[in-house]
Amino acid sequence: MERKLDVLIDARTISNRVAELGREISRDYQGRHPLLVGVLKGAVVFLSDLMRSLTVPVEIDFMAVSSYGYSTTSSGVVRILKDLEKSLEGKDVLIVEDIVDTGLTLNYLRENLASRKPNSLKVVTLLDKPERRRVEFTADYCGFVIPDYFVVGYGLDYNEKYRHLPDLCILKGEEE
Ligand code: PRP
Repeated sequence: MERKLDVLIDARTISNRVAELGREISRDYQGRHPLLVGVLKGAVVFLSDLMRSLTVPVEIDFMAVSSYGYSTTSSGVVRILKDLEKSLEGKDVLIVEDIVDTGLTLNYLRENLASRKPNSLKVVTLLDKPERRRVEFTADYCGFVIPDYFVVGYGLDYNEKYRHLPDLCILKGEEE
């Protein structure tokens, strides 16, 4: 089937919203030094823009988890492929994700990181697809709530492709 990309959220709209999130998060974390925990790989583009929109000093670290493999359907299995470098004890931790879909990944991650005794733990996601939820999950900060489209670009992929696109696009003709 032929592939087609339709822009869902353009780069300028994303950039404006990331700047707003940056202001909100900077206000909430005034006087603190949060640790941003990026979830590889999808969140890389969002994290790199978000951290530059913050006015509080931050540290960054990354985790890699696997829930999907190379399929677009969630298996419900979350596996840690790469863990954090340092302890979270006493830190103000902000998990940075690109998308909450079924909620399985972040539900697992939030519980896992909470058990490491951070001072505080919050989640920021660029995108939220509430229609696909399998477990209850609400992010503390969210960029955009979107319908159940298969989206790529701005860090999100299909079989590792399209992550570099500056716009968030709907991929048609190759999904599932
Ligand atoms: C995506 C996304 C989240 C997860 C969300 O990652 O980055 O981690 O799926 O889905 P869920 O709410 O259904 O658990 P993916 O496994 O596609 O890996 P990637 O970030 O490396 O592309």
